[in-house]
Amino acid sequence: ARIWVFNGPNLNLLGLREPEHYGSHTLAEINQEILRIANEADVKTEFRQTNHEGVLIDWIQALTPADFLILNPGAWTHTSYAIRDAISAVKVPALEVHLSNIHAREAFRTNSVIAPVCIGQISGLGAESYELAMRYAVAYQGKRGR
Ligand code: DQA
Repeated sequence: ARIWVFNGPNLNLLGLREPEHYGSHTLAEINQEILRIANEADVKTEFRQTNHEGVLIDWIQALTPADFLILNPGAWTHTSYAIRDAISAVKVPALEVHLSNIHAREAFRTNSVIAPVCIGQISGLGAESYELAMRYAVAYQGKRGR
């Protein structure tokens, strides 16, 4: 079992992309910080990013209920019933994360079709959204014996 950190479309551009919404850290820098948290806790973790919806669906389908998924679905948050169905099909415990507060922006961002199949959602804390998600995932895996 592993803690997987999947990022969806355009998140490869972090650092350059609208820093007023998404901060100035690159995805590699964010991942490095959460890897540190995972290593301290001695849990196995892996990081992936894709701009292709079907690729993300294939990755989710390969997970099991013993894994844990930290997912920033990017704009697919608001549109993808297919990603939502994949999470509920494999029954992987998942946390949805966002850098920006999706409830404080354009109206189309306030709805997440992914959130109902997740344990919860962390939104608006910048890179700390991921860090807190990793801390939660570590505790969750610990509670059920990894
Ligand atoms: C985002 C919020 C989404 O609305 C947006 O499409 C993104 C990034 C965030 O992390 O704040 O790509 O998921």
